[in-house]
Amino acid sequence: MKVTVLGAAGGIGQALALLLKTQLPAGSELALYDVAPVTPGVAVDLSHIPTQVKVQGFSGTDAKPALKDADIVLMSAGVARKPGMDRSDLFNINAGIVRSLIEQVAEVCPKACIGVISNPVNTTVAIAAEVLKNAGVYDKKKLFGVTTLDVIRSNTFVAELKGKNPANMSISVVGGHSGVTILPLLSQVEGITFSEDEITSLTTRIQNAGTEVVEAKAGAGSATLSMAQAATKFGLSLVRALQGEENIIECSYVEGDGKYARFFAQPVLLGKNGVEKLLPIGELSQFEQNALNNMLDILCKDIELGENYINK
Ligand code: NAD
Ligand code: LMR
Repeated sequence: MKVTVLGAAGGIGQALALLLKTQLPAGSELALYDVAPVTPGVAVDLSHIPTQVKVQGFSGTDAKPALKDADIVLMSAGVARKPGMDRSDLFNINAGIVRSLIEQVAEVCPKACIGVISNPVNTTVAIAAEVLKNAGVYDKKKLFGVTTLDVIRSNTFVAELKGKNPANMSISVVGGHSGVTILPLLSQVEGITFSEDEITSLTTRIQNAGTEVVEAKAGAGSATLSMAQAATKFGLSLVRALQGEENIIECSYVEGDGKYARFFAQPVLLGKNGVEKLLPIGELSQFEQNALNNMLDILCKDIELGENYINK
């Protein structure tokens, strides 16, 4: 299995590379690419860790050497938020970065599974899909917006509130990855009941958790370490599924059946070819149904912005 990280010298990228170097199965390859000249040095640094994962680092303007033979591409290239910014404020810079990197993926490793971390995810995934489509290599089963951070935050916050072990929680988060488009399905958490106030405050905290980190870092960026952990969880699930392990389920922002929006985060059964099956989001409480109804306009506009960026 070869995993390529794009944006590998960044806050997420370096932590993600470290976690992958220590957790990928023996015999895997890890390729790191970033425009930052330090990237080959990051790879040399990681290469001294005693695991059977081979690391190579590439910098410059050409991502192609890093992408050669990649099975999985995880992309965290791009700029991060500062206080006062919304994720959509990143669009002007990150749209072009995602476009150019996905064009190279389309050329070099069109069959790879791609996990898009770069924000605004609601829109960058649509950009990636249109670039791949125009190159004639789009496979909707292989393109994922990485929304795992919303899941691990939900697990953490609920476990904290209810005195449970977060490692045993697995909360579905559906919709997208910004503000009200992030919808944790708290009514489906087994064995735990919430008051109405708890549901409202937990939902709001999960939706604003990215901003909580941005404000706490006070201008020095957004979530990196928790995101690296989330991307590792998602990436390793993908590796296990591609290698034939069964019953691997992750929530991810994928092109589904279009019931809610062209792209929608939902539980997905992963398999040897990426998405094996879209799983239903299940029964919603009235609170969740209202939240779902209220997010769809925003989500569809975010998606359209990405589609138009490539096609108009
Ligand atoms: P960062 O600034 O620390 O790192 C970004 C890296 O991307 C830098 O090293 C930069 O050199 C590199 N880069 C820029 N243009 C590039 C290009 N064309 N090719 C290759 N590399 C390039 O930022 P970060 O904190 O790592 O965040 C990265 C992105 O991830 C941001 O857009 C951020 O909003 C997003 N993010 C998403 C989630 C999520 O849940 N999906 C969570 C946290 C952050
Ligand atoms: C997050 O959820 O932490 C990321 O999307 C980064 C951000 O800008 O909030």
